[in-house]
Amino acid sequence: LGKTEIDLSEIPEGKGLTFKWRGKPLFVKHRTAEEIETEAKVDLSTLRDPQHDADRAKKPEWLVVIGICTHLGCIPIADAGLYGGYFCPCHGSHYDGSGRIRKGPAPLNLEVPYYSFTDDNKMIVG
Ligand code: FES
Repeated sequence: LGKTEIDLSEIPEGKGLTFKWRGKPLFVKHRTAEEIETEAKVDLSTLRDPQHDADRAKKPEWLVVIGICTHLGCIPIADAGLYGGYFCPCHGSHYDGSGRIRKGPAPLNLEVPYYSFTDDNKMIVG
């Protein structure tokens, strides 16, 4: 029930795609080396919901998050906002390139669902 297979070869480096998983938007981003480095360097003491990027992304080049704002549930816009990640236009929450909340009213980071890689080009979510 509710498993989705994603073909990662469809997503070039630097790009993200939105899929649907259990009726929710799922953001999958193929991050560049620069984006990975930026997120790895973030000082956790500056975060509202402190999580290291390495604990959110099983493989650093792939960010997988549920596209529902943790404030009141709007769908954030990808590749937008002040922190290189996502922006929720409903009340102005900015998430970084790891999906962590950085500014605005949302209390928590974007949720990371359970997922696993079946080979270099395939991932199963759920
Ligand atoms: Fe996203 Fe309020 S629902 S900022």
